[in-house]
Amino acid sequence: MEVLLQQIETIKQEVAAFSANNADDAEAFRIKYLGTKGLVKHIMGEMKNVPNEKKKEFGLLLNEFKQFVESKYETLKELTVDNGQLTANIDFSLPGSPVPVGTRHPLSIVRNQIVSIFKRLGFAVAEGPEIEDDWHNFGAMNLPEDHPARDMQDTFYISKNPDWLLRTHTSSVQARVMENQKPPIRVICPGRVYRNETISARAHCFFHQVEGLYVDENVSFADLKQTLYFFVQEMFGKDTKVRFRPSYFPFTEPSAEMDISCLICGGSGCNVCKHTGWVEILGSGMVHPKVLENFSIDANKYTGFAFGMGVERICQLKYRVNDLRLYSQNDVRFLKQFTGAL
Ligand code: PHE
Repeated sequence: MEVLLQQIETIKQEVAAFSANNADDAEAFRIKYLGTKGLVKHIMGEMKNVPNEKKKEFGLLLNEFKQFVESKYETLKELTVDNGQLTANIDFSLPGSPVPVGTRHPLSIVRNQIVSIFKRLGFAVAEGPEIEDDWHNFGAMNLPEDHPARDMQDTFYISKNPDWLLRTHTSSVQARVMENQKPPIRVICPGRVYRNETISARAHCFFHQVEGLYVDENVSFADLKQTLYFFVQEMFGKDTKVRFRPSYFPFTEPSAEMDISCLICGGSGCNVCKHTGWVEILGSGMVHPKVLENFSIDANKYTGFAFGMGVERICQLKYRVNDLRLYSQNDVRFLKQFTGAL
């Protein structure tokens, strides 16, 4: 017994001191200590000579000894494999393997540009839920239940009671802002909206909007025009012209749609502008007094303007994308064409 313990101690010391310079050394270690005729096996074989009452204690000791040698071998292997490769296989002058980098989605690029232009004018970003109730999407926006203008926005209803729907415009976010904030209010609301439309190149059941709302004392139609004119110049370039056409929205009065001179043909007439030289990009108007009153904002003291645009539309004009479906098909060949800083 004593002799055996002595032997184990000596081997342990040897093992601890062993160092390997390469994979061959590590292999020599394995054969000497852990091979079928190695020292660990030999010592294990001595178990049969240990008296029965000592077997348990000795067994534990031997196990620990075996683990010690094995873990030393693992360390040697790791070190020498690395070293071996360093000298044998790696050429540090070779270029690295490229990691493919993704690009931003064109709609994100354009939305970020829109947002950053309005931020420079002092607008803050507001967000709200995509699942809305009737009040925030329609009622508060001066569209009571039987209002014919509800047909302008084919709605996905989720449930009747409680009433849930998928928001059809981000005007619902404006409602939520006015509910929680007093004038002066100056926000833009970017987000996804849903309408029950058959999917085609020109229509989709979901798309993206950026709407804006400005409520304060003495806000006039001239402010609306100047703000949107500034936006167009920043977004599409200094040569772009704008024009306003009278329109109708239940939540604004007066209302106007804004066209810009066609970017594709420069105004001389092409397919995109249907040979008119103009393309429509947004709806706008002075906030209807009823809408202000729905949120207890004094319509005699405060006025405001609002506008809403489709991000896909702006993106189509900027990047000449002619099929709306491309935006949501996740085709990398389409997506990787867009690079943008934002
Ligand atoms: N909410 C309108 C739409 O989705 C856009 C709009 C917003 C028009 C604000 C006027 C004022 O069509």
